[in-house]
Amino acid sequence: MYDGKYIIPGLIVFVALMTFPIWKNMGNAGIVPKPEKPVGVTKCVESAQYMRTSHMKLLDDWRDEALRDGDRTPVEVDGVKYEKSLMNGCLKCHTDKKKFCDECHVYASVKPYCWDCHYVPKETF
Ligand code: HEC
Ligand code: HEC
Ligand code: HEC
Repeated sequence: MYDGKYIIPGLIVFVALMTFPIWKNMGNAGIVPKPEKPVGVTKCVESAQYMRTSHMKLLDDWRDEALRDGDRTPVEVDGVKYEKSLMNGCLKCHTDKKKFCDECHVYASVKPYCWDCHYVPKETF
């Protein structure tokens, strides 16, 4: 026998069950990374928004400029000059690689190979 009045409620229950794993976690995307802000400085070399999305590209550009074009003109932030360098630039402000870079990278499962060669300042071990 066919009973139309059960179709819609049946579908609602079906959809609810099928999507349970999604809405069960609503508002709870797991542990969100909280990269530690550097102390004593307020600005990055570019806007925070740009850095969040494009720091890998900026690093590539810095490397190319420094090594291929020999252009090591320092980058100035708030009147202070920083080398176009991973260790002597980024990590001068972001002193703790673990609490900064790794905080996001572990979360996003990215493993930049830079540290195979580039040395990490001592205090971050
Ligand atoms: C195979 C070894 C190796 C790897 C891997 C590597 N680098 Fe380098 N990198 C070097 C060497 C050698 C220099 C030259 C150092 C110099 O002349 O100042 C350099 C220089 C640089 C420079 C400019 C100068 C400086 O002192 O930092 C940047 C920026 C840089 N690398 C970024 C990166 C990034 C970002 C990654 C990962 C995506 C990376 N490198 C991976 C070996 C490496
Ligand atoms: C002059 C010190 C300084 C230097 C040098 C610097 N940063 Fe920053 N960075 C900051 C500050 C301060 C903030 C936070 C800015 C804000 O919240 O508006 C920041 C923010 C960021 C963010 C966004 C973090 C977030 O919470 O979303 C990333 C990613 C980042 N920096 C990566 C880098 C990389 C990679 C380099 C080297 C290419 C670098 N920074 C060089 C000071 C610096
Ligand atoms: C706000 C979070 C966040 C912070 C802080 C952060 N990163 Fe990243 N990083 C990411 C994400 C997400 C990716 C992967 C992006 C993609 O694949 O498009 C990434 C990718 C990279 C890559 C390219 C790796 C690859 O295999 O393609 C490099 C190099 C890198 N980050 C360097 C750094 C360095 C150095 C620092 C610390 C100074 C840092 N990042 C801090 C989120 C962050």
